[in-house]
Amino acid sequence: MNFDMPIDRTGTSSLKWDWFKDKDVLPLWVADMDFAAPEAVTTALTRRAGHPVYGYTLPSDALYEAVLGHIERHFGWKVEREWLLFIPGVVTGFNIAARLVGEKETIAVPTPAYPPFLSAAKNARREMVKVSLPIEDGRLVINRKVLEAQVTAETKLLMLCSPYNPGGTILTNEELSGIVDFCEERDILICSDEIHADLVLDEKGTHIPTASLSEAAAARTITLMAPSKTFNIPGLGCSMAIIPDEKIRTRYKAAMEGIVPHVNLMGYEGAMAAYIHGGPWLKEALAYLRENRDYAFQRLSAMKGLKPLLPEATYLIWMDARDLGVQKPAAFFEENGVGLSDGAYFDAPGWLRLNFACTRAILKEALDRMEKAIEKI
Ligand SMILES: Cc1ncc(COP(=O)(O)O)c(C=O)c1O
Repeated sequence: MNFDMPIDRTGTSSLKWDWFKDKDVLPLWVADMDFAAPEAVTTALTRRAGHPVYGYTLPSDALYEAVLGHIERHFGWKVEREWLLFIPGVVTGFNIAARLVGEKETIAVPTPAYPPFLSAAKNARREMVKVSLPIEDGRLVINRKVLEAQVTAETKLLMLCSPYNPGGTILTNEELSGIVDFCEERDILICSDEIHADLVLDEKGTHIPTASLSEAAAARTITLMAPSKTFNIPGLGCSMAIIPDEKIRTRYKAAMEGIVPHVNLMGYEGAMAAYIHGGPWLKEALAYLRENRDYAFQRLSAMKGLKPLLPEATYLIWMDARDLGVQKPAAFFEENGVGLSDGAYFDAPGWLRLNFACTRAILKEALDRMEKAIEKI
């Protein structure tokens, strides 16, 4: 596919593009890509739309096979069919997990955090314990030591994000093992949001599903995965919760009862086509994203007042803009024609997140605008 080809998203009610309405602002914020999904997805959706009955739909055997096959091929993790639940979103998935926590128990949320993590405890009427993550050698770190220092005795759920958004850290075997051991000692359930698992940019990096580490890890982990970020189909709303432990799975299903809708039939169709046929597309997308990452990182690093982290995974660059010399960096860049995610919503005021899953031409234009804006300060 030609990832350089611009696609006009006007008239599609795109959250990313319509947010700034008629202003001349290049949107490099919410995490979707400006690229066309794999052709096989479009073909599958068109074919299904051609059948005029859009009734209640089950996940097919072929879909189960496609998902399980993808997870085993990409991560070497053998998931059993009954562990897998289809859910309409990953945010839904971790909000359900939050509802498994008892009344006097708390939920640990590492920060900076993808914003919906910060409201999950409140939504479940539970208390949140923030775990502030340090940056070591240009990498946002979550490990046993960090948890040990900040998690309280009442904490019974850890909201993990792996690879980490924001920052793009790929958790190493050692880091994950330490986290799992710690959670075992304290009897803490782990909700592992692995929505960015397929978006590994570091050539030497490997995503390790938390639950695949050991039987003990599987027994206390709810894994959330989805084809949405991987194949750029987040609008189709099909995600998965993978829960090996039967008791936890039963409690999870009970918490969903009556409030979580089915996945819609187009979500199933799109997911199946993507997992079966999307491999070559993903390979090309990753190559393009790697080049975008390197280009954006190199230019941002050269801009006065900005300190970006090089993401090992995800298509998002997380950067410190506190030395920029402006009060509100996100508003400043928006006024100068670039729409970035405001770190304040991630519990990190003065930081910014830039989505580089766009054409190189748009990325270049956005970086030019940022550079010019900084010169004026
Ligand atoms: C870590 C993480 N979890 C979940 C989501 C969104 O998941 P969904 O759209 O399936 O609710 C995102 C989207 O950016 C994300 O980065």
